[in-house]
Amino acid sequence: MSEVVHYGRQGRVAVISIDSPPVNALGQAVRQGLLDLIARAQGDDEVDAVVLTGKGKAFSAGADIREFGKPALPPSLPDVINAIEASGKPVIAAINGVALGGGLELALGCHYRVAGPFASLGLPEVKLGLIPGAGGTVRLPRLAGARAAIDIITAGDPLKAEAAEAAGIVDRIAEGDVVAAALQVLEEGVTGRRTRDLAVDAKAETFAEARAAIAKRSRGLVSPLACVDAIEGAATLPFDEALAKERSLFLSCLASPQRAGLVHAFFAPREAAKVPGIGPDVKPRKVETVGVIGAGTMGGGIAMCFANADIPVTLLEMKAEALERGLATIRANYEATRAKGRMTAEEIETRMALIRPSLDYADLAGADLVIEAAFESMAVKHDIFGTLDLVCKPGAVLATNTSTLSIDEIAAATGRPQDVVGMHFFSPANVMKLLENVRGKATAPDVQATVMEVARRIGKVGVMVGVCYGFVGNRILHARNREAIALVNEGASPQQVDKALTDFGFAMGPFATSDLAGLDVGWRIREERRKANDPEVDAPNWLDTLAEKGRFGQKTRAGIYRYEAGSRAPIPDAETDALIAAYRAAQGIAPRAVDETEIVERCMFMMVNEGARILEEGIAARASDIDVVWLNGYGFPAFRGGPMFWGQQHGLDRVLAGIDAFHARLGTKPWQAAPLLRRLVAEGRGF
Ligand code: CAA
Repeated sequence: MSEVVHYGRQGRVAVISIDSPPVNALGQAVRQGLLDLIARAQGDDEVDAVVLTGKGKAFSAGADIREFGKPALPPSLPDVINAIEASGKPVIAAINGVALGGGLELALGCHYRVAGPFASLGLPEVKLGLIPGAGGTVRLPRLAGARAAIDIITAGDPLKAEAAEAAGIVDRIAEGDVVAAALQVLEEGVTGRRTRDLAVDAKAETFAEARAAIAKRSRGLVSPLACVDAIEGAATLPFDEALAKERSLFLSCLASPQRAGLVHAFFAPREAAKVPGIGPDVKPRKVETVGVIGAGTMGGGIAMCFANADIPVTLLEMKAEALERGLATIRANYEATRAKGRMTAEEIETRMALIRPSLDYADLAGADLVIEAAFESMAVKHDIFGTLDLVCKPGAVLATNTSTLSIDEIAAATGRPQDVVGMHFFSPANVMKLLENVRGKATAPDVQATVMEVARRIGKVGVMVGVCYGFVGNRILHARNREAIALVNEGASPQQVDKALTDFGFAMGPFATSDLAGLDVGWRIREERRKANDPEVDAPNWLDTLAEKGRFGQKTRAGIYRYEAGSRAPIPDAETDALIAAYRAAQGIAPRAVDETEIVERCMFMMVNEGARILEEGIAARASDIDVVWLNGYGFPAFRGGPMFWGQQHGLDRVLAGIDAFHARLGTKPWQAAPLLRRLVAEGRGF
């Protein structure tokens, strides 16, 4: 008897159900249970047919991802699925919920598929650096055709039940209980067929076209092309040979560093959701209404996040004009989504109606959570939080979207520092996944639990961090960008640095990103800090000169690069080159050739080193939290797992040796190795 797979009887039908919470993943015990119970059904004289289903919300979320990278334990999933397909008694899949990866492959091995109306089906392996490894690339094309199979498998996105039916993957949609519907199918005398007996509908040119399209979009990823190879095998080889080819491609992807990085990227945000010190006993405060202060780019985007999640939000501004401008921008953003066919006119009105404009702080009196997104100045924040202290109800969570200022100092403007917390959204706030939540010294545990819960409700990846200049994300960004600038000062061109890092896998290089964000932002912050005689601020350089000349980046069609009207494509600009040359001359620097390896190493080692400092200071609770920040807020390539994971994969000893070598050569303070890094290497440990 298996504890994770059950055998029941409904008349002359065996109902086999997977019961392995939370998602019915196909770990060793489940595979063994399935194999045993399929065999039992074969030998059970009182059984003519089998219904296979899942208990709870999932049919099955596929292979147990935690088993990857460990020695494989028999039986293998392909063996289980082959046994199901070979069954002499019809096996009907009753797909009650998600059927993903190996979960869908299990269903594809059944002879007929009934799906509940809310089921979703997909082969997301490519997102984990894999290909479907249990017959998915060989069976799906037999049901859906090679073209559709390529699209489904290389995108990895799940299909809803209806779309799966239209594609030929599901045979029937159940109206009520899915097991009852499967029993009904058998009652009608339907017994289905073996997927392996079907032919693959494929055109020869489909594969070349797919490879060309994938090479363009998947930038360095190995598994999407392996998916196409496997599907081509399905179309050109006998069934069993195609299965063997798929298995061998699967195993080579399984052993790849990209798979390790992507699996890390899958688990890291789930880990980040568990904040050390905030156990499940700490209940979040109730958040039913929200206030947002400031209707600028950030405030407007934040208000949209709540409206999109069906949470009413009061949007406060000081002047009617600014409020109207903010609302118009929000509406224009929604209209742009509608123009792409992803939203209806009614939906726009519903969401706009959830955003209540206001010019009066008194309207925030009932809000459960207020998020301030006003001008980045401590004096302004003090005024606002002093006012919030007066108008907000007791127990309201008072959050600031500051990206640099101390939460503790802001909290000091109130008589309730325990209720004050940072919620650092990333621009555009309605799009970017990351929400860096910042706990101050006094932030209450239930306030921390509340902002993590809010992140989840509005579809963000929440990470809890501590207070320091720039928190986790921008602090590392600053260190990395300072190095990128140093490389240009020494002789690289901005486009060479950007290319080295996009070749590494970043969505954009540091200089193209600065142009997108606006050079004026950093320049103004540096100017403020220089005026305040901040000893840590960098000396003025060619970037400051660009900003002084009004070259703010994409928005002025000139920054580090120049831009043609209506285009976001960066074009190298001789004017920038001249400014850089003048800067080098003024500093007495003779430019030298800088190669790609040096660019990548200096930027990446610097990130790992700064990350190690952040860890040591307790600003981030775990190295993987730092990875989550960079993966979701800064376009770090997911297949590299995040900067800290990359450092570990590269070898912390190699990273440290590189840091020491750059320190010896460049002598600058940031190149001093973080003590934590040195200690870990000495002890032969990882982060
Ligand atoms: N293996 C192991 N653990 C898994 C898992 C899996 N396949 N899928 C989810 N989990 C775990 C999560 O880590 C999480 O654990 P904790 O609570 O300890 O953090 C728990 O199950 C719940 O998951 P979520 O928080 O993600 O819950 P959700 O309801 O938001 O989403 C889901 C559920 C849609 C199934 C989502 O978890 C998901 O997409 N999972 C991955 C599915 C996947 O990629 N499957 C393919 C596996 S590869 C494969 O199958 C290869 C093959 O060909 C044989």
